[in-house]
Amino acid sequence: SKSTTLVVGGAGYIGSHTVRLLASQDRDVLVLDNLVYGHRDALVDDSVRFIEGSLSDRPLLDKIFSENDIDVVIHFAAFINVGESVKDPLKYYQNNTADPVILLEAMRDHGVKGFVLSSTAAVYGEPVEVPIVESHPLQPVNPYGWSKLMLEQILADCDTAWGLKSACLRYFNASGSWGDGLIGEAHEPETHLIPNVLLAIQGKIEKMTVFGTDYDTPDGTCIRDYIHVMDLADAHAKALDHLKGGGESIRCNLGTGLGVSVREILDAAREVTGKEVPVEYGDRRAGDPARLVADPSLAKEVLDWEASHTDAKDMVESAWQWMTGPRLGQFEK
Ligand code: UFG
Repeated sequence: SKSTTLVVGGAGYIGSHTVRLLASQDRDVLVLDNLVYGHRDALVDDSVRFIEGSLSDRPLLDKIFSENDIDVVIHFAAFINVGESVKDPLKYYQNNTADPVILLEAMRDHGVKGFVLSSTAAVYGEPVEVPIVESHPLQPVNPYGWSKLMLEQILADCDTAWGLKSACLRYFNASGSWGDGLIGEAHEPETHLIPNVLLAIQGKIEKMTVFGTDYDTPDGTCIRDYIHVMDLADAHAKALDHLKGGGESIRCNLGTGLGVSVREILDAAREVTGKEVPVEYGDRRAGDPARLVADPSLAKEVLDWEASHTDAKDMVESAWQWMTGPRLGQFEK
């Protein structure tokens, strides 16, 4: 019989898209989520089993690993608010670094030897060279980035010690949605650019603020590598197959390799929605590098993965479909 994939944090934004893709590929998926930030309604397939609980609940983990034939764990259950991590670092080190150690202890004791981690471009810090390759210095500039980098190191050490194979996937700027309006990005509070632009267009927030127009970029606004959430989901499916097939531990960037400025996102939003964006131009946000763009060639090499959506309009359009679809961009629970 086929082995089960345990998805921790599967009711969040990227988790729910990955879970839905894996289910559509007829894979057996079990989601564990404490619903602190996740949404029960984001799990739309009846074939996906759900347990509400914490990845640091050792007795619960023992039960899950005893009762299921789990070979790989995908971990999405991290806190992601960079600004909050600066103000409350211990919240981030506890949830993003310390709690997963308990999950790893349970995996070790039950002989589960595959782990896929949602890592982040934040592990690189302020880039010294763009596009960013994986051999770029690892020098995070906030506790969020450190909390992920430390977990990457823990995974590498577990490989040495007991043969845990891991895939650390360093996402650049996740965006977009499944496209049918049933699942999408619903953060509280929402800090990300594309959702805030679309909320402003709908009048759900008064206006969106462009954080800085004096960067050393062609139009003065920050440049990012926006990667479609469906491409991220596809990369997880490929990382899963890599580990199930006995592949070595890997760490790689997930991005398009293309840089898009804040102004270009505003233009895309105008084109997609046909509406003006209520915008104000403000100061720089602390800790924002001018340019973050991936070199995604390693992911192509080791996972045979590359982004299929390379036009930021695709990301904006599917984010708009979520916000204007049957759920109007919100989950009930
Ligand atoms: N921005 C605005 N106005 C807003 C929101 C964002 O101008 O209201 C700008 C930011 O200054 C930045 C760009 O839009 O230049 C993108 O900002 P996001 O907050 O959408 O994304 P970040 O690049 O800050 O963060 C993303 C992920 C984080 C992760 C980080 C580094 O969302 O989780 O990349 O990997 F930590």
